Amino acid sequence: MAMSAEGEGRGKLILFGEHAVVYGVPAIVAGLPLGARAQVVLLDEGPSRLCLIDPDSDRPLAVCDESHADQPLAQALSAILAAFGDEVAVDARVYIDIPAGAGLGSSAALAAAIARALAALLDRPSAVQAAVAASEAIFHGDASGIDQAAALSGGLFRFTRGADQPIRPIHAPGVPVSICLAGASAPTAHMVRGVAARRARHRPVFEHIERLIGAVTADAQIALSQGDWPRLGELLDINHGALCALGVSTQDLDHACHIARGCGALGAKLTGSGGGGCVFALTPGTSEAVVEAWRARGWRAFSVVLGG
Ligand code: MEV
Repeated sequence: MAMSAEGEGRGKLILFGEHAVVYGVPAIVAGLPLGARAQVVLLDEGPSRLCLIDPDSDRPLAVCDESHADQPLAQALSAILAAFGDEVAVDARVYIDIPAGAGLGSSAALAAAIARALAALLDRPSAVQAAVAASEAIFHGDASGIDQAAALSGGLFRFTRGADQPIRPIHAPGVPVSICLAGASAPTAHMVRGVAARRARHRPVFEHIERLIGAVTADAQIALSQGDWPRLGELLDINHGALCALGVSTQDLDHACHIARGCGALGAKLTGSGGGGCVFALTPGTSEAVVEAWRARGWRAFSVVLGG
């Protein structure tokens, strides 16, 4: 049996439908050209260790072992190992270029990379989904599975929690977006719990908002497949408004959206769980101006083309 193996996982950008997706509304998501690459070595005995490394500087970003049972990262490692059932101990080094907790799917990419390496080592490919789901339950609480789907499959697709076929690919021309890390983020599990608490107090209103997000997502799928960027941009703005109504935006996220629109972006919204983290803007022909304006404000920003 091999003693070491590698695995990869992708970051993600939710274009439409975060939070509502937890309650069964379809969402649209794309794999990012950013991700995690794990090198996993089997050990004779535990505790298992995990080191996150910045691939640019080769510096450690975080280190833990399974004995740090109070740390989410150590809990996630234990959950991944438990999904493989065997009494197995590993040393996992994960090179990750997705900012942590920014809404870009770093936790799912990390879990997917480790789980795939373990699956290769133990010849257990069928355990990968359960391993990533167990890890995501620690970071996300009631996770819809959208980050896991993007981390494992990449591409541009519609995701529906609980559907017979949760992943439906979307065929569209490449979508030019710019992404901005607008300030410190909040843990996803905390944001998902916050929405659940407000939803319990305002159930009929929240169900209206979820239906609105569902309608936006359905229109967005058509606009995406037609490459109708002006229409798509307006739908992004509407979805951002709905996320504000759910209570997950912040002053910085709203400000970053306004800056992008002021520099010619066709639309902008927060992405992921909110409470800080990332926004993205639709920027055909305007990516440089938008990214420059965000950077001038002191935020990290970059442009990518999604799908295509
Ligand atoms: C987080 O990336 C997306 C949320 O909708 C949570 C989830 O779907 O698991 C906020």
